[in-house]
Amino acid sequence: MKAVIFYFSGTGNTWWVANQIEKKLTQSGIETKKYSIEAEEISDNKKVQSLIEDASIVGFGYPIFGSDLPLTYIDFIKSLSKNKGKHAFVFTTMMLFSGDGALVAARKLRRKGFRVKQATNIRMPNNVKLPYPIVRSFPMSSEEGITKLKEKAAKKVDKLVKKIVEGKRWLQGWDPINVSGGLSQRVPMKLIGWTRWARNYFVEKETCTECMLCVEYCPTNNIRFENEEFVWGDDCNICLRCYNLCPEDAIQFKEGTLNKEKYPRYKGPGNGFNQNKLKE
Ligand SMILES: Cc1cc2nc3c(=O)[nH]c(=O)nc-3n(C[C@H](O)[C@H](O)[C@H](O)COP(=O)(O)O)c2cc1C
Ligand code: SF4
Ligand code: SF4
Repeated sequence: MKAVIFYFSGTGNTWWVANQIEKKLTQSGIETKKYSIEAEEISDNKKVQSLIEDASIVGFGYPIFGSDLPLTYIDFIKSLSKNKGKHAFVFTTMMLFSGDGALVAARKLRRKGFRVKQATNIRMPNNVKLPYPIVRSFPMSSEEGITKLKEKAAKKVDKLVKKIVEGKRWLQGWDPINVSGGLSQRVPMKLIGWTRWARNYFVEKETCTECMLCVEYCPTNNIRFENEEFVWGDDCNICLRCYNLCPEDAIQFKEGTLNKEKYPRYKGPGNGFNQNKLKE
């Protein structure tokens, strides 16, 4: 039996969880391979389709942004062809609350013909702390906190893998509290228009080394370096990769983030994580 996983990760959490699932499924006797939706290897849609056809189980993973999917992940699902009832599972990573965030993809995948049997949200470290009301008070985990969250996440992965192997249904977030909680995040966020957030970015020139990692690794090619200036367009996935993973913390989101103690950046889940991994 074969499984394939397609994931997107902004800052490494979903990459880490996808790794755990790949490992555990393989240990359970299901030959599994994971691909980032940014991987060069699957940039051709035909390759994605042949991987899906070749597998008995297809996994879909993404980080929760306001109880919703990253825009690039919505595009990825849209690009899939219809199939006849293939077993699929969905996993998301989140800081605390995702409402029905995993079911949003499950519904889209059902319309593509997938039989989604499992959909679950897995808590991982927070990667968003910005100078906005409420968002500015989101906690950032210490190293010890990250380790504890990963331990709990690994247990949830074990449960998910067991359900997948046994073919048992496990759909989280369908109850009225989670559905209404999810909607109460998704609707205002859509109205505000996430993509315009990128207009708040700027580079602190004194600390920038012009390594160009931000330009190279932006998943939507939304950052340009023109006339000695970094320019953000409106095609932003709001993944916060550029902001969090700049090696010098030179990327700012409004003036407030110049205070780096108050606005620490999230550097990913460890375990060999670096930006290269996000495109594998
Ligand atoms: C713009 C944005 C919105 C977010 N919204 C939520 C949310 O609604 N609920 C939640 O629990 N976590 C939320 N988070 C936290 C991330 O979902 C969480 O840290 C996730 O594990 C990041 O995964 P990644 O490292 O694979 O990108 C948000 C993060 C960002 C950047
Ligand atoms: S990643 Fe940071 S240091 Fe490198 S070019 Fe971008 S802003 Fe400058
Ligand atoms: S501009 Fe930054 S936050 Fe927006 S998609 Fe690119 S890396 Fe992500």
